[in-house]
Amino acid sequence: MMKGAKANVLEAIGNTPIVKLNKLANDVESDIYVKLEFMNPGGSTKDRIGAYMLDQAVIDGDLKPGGTIIEGTSGNTGVGLAMWAAVYGYKCIFVLADKQSQEKIDNLRSFGAKVVVCPTNVEPEDPRSYYSVSKRLADTIPNSFYVNQYDNLHNRNTHYTWTAPEMFEQTQGDFDVFIAGVGTGGTISGCGKYFKEKMPNVEIVGIDCVGSIIAHYKKTGEIGEAKSYVLEGVGEDFIPGNYDFDMIDDFEVVGDKESFIMTRRLLKEEGIYAGGSAGAAICGALKYAKKQKTKKKILILLHDSGNRYASKIYNDDWMSDNGYLDSSFNVQIKDVLKDLGKKGSVHTISDVSTIGEAIEILDKKGISQLPVLNGQQEIVGLITEKNLVRPVLMGEFQRDDNISLATSNKFRVVDTNELLETVGDALLNKEVVFITEEGKLKNIITEIDILQYFSKKGNS
Ligand SMILES: Cc1ncc(COP(=O)(O)O)c(C=O)c1O
Repeated sequence: MMKGAKANVLEAIGNTPIVKLNKLANDVESDIYVKLEFMNPGGSTKDRIGAYMLDQAVIDGDLKPGGTIIEGTSGNTGVGLAMWAAVYGYKCIFVLADKQSQEKIDNLRSFGAKVVVCPTNVEPEDPRSYYSVSKRLADTIPNSFYVNQYDNLHNRNTHYTWTAPEMFEQTQGDFDVFIAGVGTGGTISGCGKYFKEKMPNVEIVGIDCVGSIIAHYKKTGEIGEAKSYVLEGVGEDFIPGNYDFDMIDDFEVVGDKESFIMTRRLLKEEGIYAGGSAGAAICGALKYAKKQKTKKKILILLHDSGNRYASKIYNDDWMSDNGYLDSSFNVQIKDVLKDLGKKGSVHTISDVSTIGEAIEILDKKGISQLPVLNGQQEIVGLITEKNLVRPVLMGEFQRDDNISLATSNKFRVVDTNELLETVGDALLNKEVVFITEEGKLKNIITEIDILQYFSKKGNS
């Protein structure tokens, strides 16, 4: 054995660094530090629970040689389990919800695992849910072991016996608050228990997301109604067995958009390439820090790597298509229109008109787009020069054809009192934005208007 080498990849799990946030914490008095769990070999803190839960399953006699490991996983736990299975030669089947990123699915398949994808928006009890499918597979496949990170208490024990002691040793307990995003509850409950035993005054704060039921349950004791959200790994629609709510002092709740924007800022401003739950945890930590009366040292665990979100959070098209891009224009649309001197009259065409009539208006008025109104004066579509040229050239349209043949639905209707940022993603999507005042069509905003406004502001 070479000096300094590890016997296998599992021995490379752990000992991840803790790093100070420098720019992102500028607005708060407290100091914020992050534990980079994405530096584990499989890219997340779940490498630890994967290895630990399977070691225990062998010790407990639940996983036998030649067995099949089955798990419902948002991806990261699957990688941890698959790594262990690769080293020790076991088969794996993973069940994922269809909102998980393609990178996660491809990654698990590359380990040689079978991956079953289930619909996201069904109740946990629904036979199609990934919880139900995992359980059914485990019941029907001989010599299989259903890991069940939700209720398998070796999940939180991993963090109690390994992750938390490692952080305590690294910092000598020199922090006041520990913060982590919550999913199965393993990280927060296991670390929380260890830190509370060692540091009686430590505060343990969980970060939950809008739409999840966890924080609401801690505050009220009631199981609320779950709503859909896009963040991966954080939040649940049921209460997994790994939660020990006595170990959690407080919760902050964050939304998808602010979390994704923060995830990108974490890379741009601190150079840290982490996943969406890291952005969520930092957003939550900043909310918590702003409420504190004294300066605190806050330690946040960042669960996974940005690699798993290259086609989502780190993809401008995905961010813009889903309305997550931030805008620096905090100004009402009516003020933009006033600045640009746009009068507030728009040429329109009725939905019973012909293509010939539409072309005539575009030509005579020298405009390139025309809203289509129905009998109730509601906007039902849009005629653009661009949409007409190809079919006219190809002889697909006759002058007498109804304009519905050429009507596009790439438009958005927004009230003049809305902020300019609400139309940012529409414009990036090449949609035409119609502006209404008291329900009546008054104006159109296009990409060039934004550029002109930007240029005017720069000169004023
Ligand atoms: C990316 C990510 N963040 C946060 C969590 C939440 O951690 P825990 O399940 O330990 O509560 C998970 C768990 O699946 C995760 O994958």
